[in-house]
Amino acid sequence: MLTMAIAKGRMQAEALALLGRAGVRVCKEALASRRLAVEDESGRFRFVFVKPSDVPVYVEHGIADCGVVGRDVLLEKGADVLQPLDLGISRCRIAVAARAGFRTGHAGVLHVATKYPRVAAAHFGAKGVPVEIIELSGSVELAPVLGLADCIVDLVETGRTLVENGLVIVETIAESTGRLVVNRASHQLKSQEVAQTIEALRLVLEGGGEAA
Ligand code: PRP
Repeated sequence: MLTMAIAKGRMQAEALALLGRAGVRVCKEALASRRLAVEDESGRFRFVFVKPSDVPVYVEHGIADCGVVGRDVLLEKGADVLQPLDLGISRCRIAVAARAGFRTGHAGVLHVATKYPRVAAAHFGAKGVPVEIIELSGSVELAPVLGLADCIVDLVETGRTLVENGLVIVETIAESTGRLVVNRASHQLKSQEVAQTIEALRLVLEGGGEAA
């Protein structure tokens, strides 16, 4: 049996739909329940639903053999996991955003609010811009509006949250999509099951695989 960690939230439905097309299905009752660990209908997979930032942790430690999580999370966590497939789901980007009229040639230390402190520090560090990173856990778009920060580094999907809070994208740092990640040891020890899973998903992505 393979244990797969799935990022709860915006990516979960898309990840399960993709897996369903690859022949890995979870029954509706199990999905409708509050259970955080469920088996698929074939009994070959066990899914654990965890916070996105915890997916690489479970996979790196081998508690889960594989997982589905966004590249944004992988960049921030820097986990030592294999990334054999770009699943192309939950497409979004990590961007710098600020109130309209914000000038990039800001003098002095730039105050940057973000859920991605590591990505933000690396981005501004590479440009030689001195920053103070203000770590938030959500509703990051409020920070420049309320004067907590000069700009933010955050996820942009539709761009609606930015627009509705009077912010504009200053620059894109990285594009992100959902990735299949695999534990290094599982890749060796459960090579057949892992290879089958990768292949089934690859077929679906190439337009083949089972009908939904
Ligand atoms: C994410 C992200 C933005 C928003 C972007 O937040 O941090 O706030 O979604 O989506 P959009 O471009 O489609 O508007 P999330 O919904 O995960 O909530 P959070 O702010 O509490 O982290």
